[in-house]
Amino acid sequence: MSYDFDEIIDRRNTDSLKFDHAARRGKPDGLIPMWVADMDFRAPPCVLDALTERVRHGIFGYSEPAEDYFEAVRGWFERRHNWRIEADWLVKTPGVVVSMCAAIHAVTLPGDAVIIQQPVYYPFEDSVTGSGRNLVVNELRLTDGRYEIDFDDFEEKVKREKVKLFLLCNPHNPGGRVWTRRELERLGDVCLKNGVTVFSDEIHQDFVFPGHVHTVFADISPELADITITATSPSKTFNIAGLHIANTFIANARLRREFVRAYSGTGLSQVGAPGLTACRAAYRGGDGWADELIAYIRGNLDYLRVFADAELPGVEVLEPDGTYLVWLDFRGLGLDTKELNDFIVGRAGLWLDCGTMFGAGGKGFQRINIACPRGTLTRALDRLADAIRAKDAV
Ligand SMILES: Cc1ncc(COP(=O)(O)O)c(C=O)c1O
Repeated sequence: MSYDFDEIIDRRNTDSLKFDHAARRGKPDGLIPMWVADMDFRAPPCVLDALTERVRHGIFGYSEPAEDYFEAVRGWFERRHNWRIEADWLVKTPGVVVSMCAAIHAVTLPGDAVIIQQPVYYPFEDSVTGSGRNLVVNELRLTDGRYEIDFDDFEEKVKREKVKLFLLCNPHNPGGRVWTRRELERLGDVCLKNGVTVFSDEIHQDFVFPGHVHTVFADISPELADITITATSPSKTFNIAGLHIANTFIANARLRREFVRAYSGTGLSQVGAPGLTACRAAYRGGDGWADELIAYIRGNLDYLRVFADAELPGVEVLEPDGTYLVWLDFRGLGLDTKELNDFIVGRAGLWLDCGTMFGAGGKGFQRINIACPRGTLTRALDRLADAIRAKDAV
């Protein structure tokens, strides 16, 4: 490895949501935070160098990048995902959730139905209900420790509720399913037949483990490209969420116009200079770093799986196909939601995300973020093992 992912960096007092806000969120001091989806690794040197140079220049006026920005983005998607994008498809926004809200406003009216697949990243539900749309849920089914799609239920609800928009999470958070081409085609067929537009959130697309392949939903066919808004960002891959840069791609010119109109209605226009600088540098020169990062996270996952088998009775690890957010099944401990949360915080000293935040199907689960140095992970898992032993001893 050329990069040191083992280094433990003190993130306290950096305005970190993950590390600096326990008290404000009603948590005690001293928890190991493994909840919100950012990583405890420094961004790659190519990104830090580009930002340093930009800061040294010292002027931060309104920013709009030239052709070279698109070239960097195009290169990344072609190299990493074999997807050829065109310059006029791109709309830059400060984040994927911003794009999601713009898509909801572009495609639907208050009261229209929007379908999501829970358990899913909580802003999916909040974006729909917060904008006064009708939330329709196609629950994922847990089969042999893996989330599967209930296609009959999806189709039935799309028709019955006259769904206008589908918010797809591809790959899926939580649970880490990297949906197969066949699964996505089946969903796409239903959408095409029923006039449903698709917002495909592909923010986790770079975190895919060996044996799995990320499929860009819009790249499956020209017909699907025509009904799809694809939201991506370098923020997860390069740990730059605080720089607020996301790239949304819309091939259909009419859909793009509607999206841009809705996005403009938020009052946002240009994105920030640091985000543009970091994204361009990362997509130009971050391949080697990203490859090592994914291998390191895969090593963390291997450690977690082996440790859980041996030391965490009553806890099952759902094997993810990708992402660094692992879904832990605590149902074997026989605790209700409050007891489980109290156990994780009060006994194990960890800050995880409670499963029910992702929908009712998350009951009995917790989401753990394993994008941290191995030393942090082992310390956290030791705490959990001690807490389970102490609980069993009572
Ligand atoms: C599936 C998914 N979409 C979007 C986001 C957030 O994206 P952004 O910060 O660009 O709004 C996250 C962050 O955890 C996520 O997991």
